[in-house]
Amino acid sequence: MGDLDGRVAVVTGGARGIGFGCCEALSAAGASIVIADVDSDQGELSAKELPGPAVAVRHDVRSADSATALRNATHEAFGRVDILINNAGVGPHPAPIQDLTEDEYDRVMDVNARGTFLTTRAFVPDLIAQSSGRIINVSSIVGQRGFGMVLPYVASKFAVRGMTHTLAFELAPHNVTVNAIMPGILETDLHSAVVGQFATLQETTEEEGWEFFRSRIPLARFQTPRDIGEMAAFLASDRAQNITGASFNVDGGWQMA
Ligand SMILES: NC(=O)c1ccc[n+]([C@@H]2O[C@H](COP(=O)([O-])OP(=O)(O)OC[C@H]3O[C@@H](n4cnc5c(N)ncnc54)[C@H](O)[C@@H]3O)[C@@H](O)[C@H]2O)c1
Repeated sequence: MGDLDGRVAVVTGGARGIGFGCCEALSAAGASIVIADVDSDQGELSAKELPGPAVAVRHDVRSADSATALRNATHEAFGRVDILINNAGVGPHPAPIQDLTEDEYDRVMDVNARGTFLTTRAFVPDLIAQSSGRIINVSSIVGQRGFGMVLPYVASKFAVRGMTHTLAFELAPHNVTVNAIMPGILETDLHSAVVGQFATLQETTEEEGWEFFRSRIPLARFQTPRDIGEMAAFLASDRAQNITGASFNVDGGWQMA
């Protein structure tokens, strides 16, 4: 018997990285999984790796129509939805503000912030109707304390926490909890690209870039997608029934200073 037996979870950006770590942890706990990713080819492959029922649905979080189609596909596949994990995100192209373009700002905000809004909006009526549900948003440690050279990314991750705390109030009367996870540093495709770009910008090596991040983690190791997934599985379970409007660090004790 798993904590999440009989539950249905939708994970945006679930094809790889942190999203897939969430899929693995939720599937291991008994949930049926909908991998909702713009990369549906990888989504199909990842769905086959999970221990329980799973389907992949192509979903672009930037589109309201795609969110509606995802909601309908979830019902066709599993007949209900209990858990939404808003994880899909893009990384920043680091630059000082005077070199930041409007296009870069919009590119990041469209996926990370607006995408969270659009996908959530499509699923909330179902959660209200059944008087239960879990929404878990993936923010970041930079959505707590900021970080230089990545203004749109930081703004998007603070926005995600703002939506989390707002919806926690709004949906509490319907027994729907809304929480955020703030991952630290992971060696995913997203963060590897950022480390490379920082190295170019600052004329250092990628090894020095990784060491910069590692040196600020008291536990002196990077986090894994499964670490984030285990927090998501807890927040999705009945054990977390009285937790809402909270943001949780999974960051090895990250310190900026
Ligand atoms: N990697 C880190 O160190 C780190 C730290 C803190 C927070 N995060 C956040 O965690 C989340 C996942 O990051 P990751 O490192 O696993 O990234 P990743 O690049 O490994 O995976 C991101 C996934 O999101 C999907 N995606 C991208 N744009 C999409 C869109 N428009 N619609 C649907 N899916 C889309 C991609 O296809 C990919 O499968 C992001 O929100 C990121 O900001 C990452």
